[in-house]
Amino acid sequence: MKQLMNAIIEKGFVISDGVLKVDSFLNHQIDTNLMINIGKEFAQRFKNENITRILTIETSGIAPSFIAANELNVPLVFARKKKSLTMNNDLYTSSVYSFTKQETAEISVSKNFLLPGEKVLIIDDFLANGQAALGLTNIVEQAGAEVAGIGIVIEKSFQNGRHVLEEAGYKVESLARIQSLTDGTVTFLTEQPILSN
Ligand code: G4P
Repeated sequence: MKQLMNAIIEKGFVISDGVLKVDSFLNHQIDTNLMINIGKEFAQRFKNENITRILTIETSGIAPSFIAANELNVPLVFARKKKSLTMNNDLYTSSVYSFTKQETAEISVSKNFLLPGEKVLIIDDFLANGQAALGLTNIVEQAGAEVAGIGIVIEKSFQNGRHVLEEAGYKVESLARIQSLTDGTVTFLTEQPILSN
């Protein structure tokens, strides 16, 4: 997606060989025009999959999912990383290990908001090792629902997330695929290096 790739080039910072900072439009401040177009792009890519619900994970998955859900006219639910005061015990939960943060989080979704037989589109902001997405697929399957696909805003293709998810049988659609972040340069898959910072 060209607008997203341009934002990564113009506003992203490579902070190490493994990490891209995109706080100015995705992870902290949100570029609403870009987010609307990201949501529309997801809706376009999954419009023939008879999606009945979108599932994402707080925090940064919510904005792009909100627009996609509105476009597809389906409900959106986000997994919580910490249980809220009002959440009762009727929860689906899954443990997600983050290699980036080196910690395990228990994510949860209320059984009221994920129903058997649903066709669920999972959306997240980054795909690194695929553990967050895998935790979400686990929750969908606990509910007796089906994962119709996984939509990712930025995929770090040099990490093994896509491989893990495809091996598990899921369709992955990423709007920007980064081949490497070596030497402060973003290289998109199948493209020449186009950013230095
Ligand atoms: P994984 O789910 O694919 O295995 O990824 P990992 O555990 O390694 O990622 C943990 C967190 O770090 C996630 O956000 C993920 O989106 C984010 N992340 C991973 N790689 C990058 C990167 O290169 N740049 C940025 N900006 N983020 C990255 P989170 O902690 O859940 O954050 P939030 O959704 O609450 O904002």
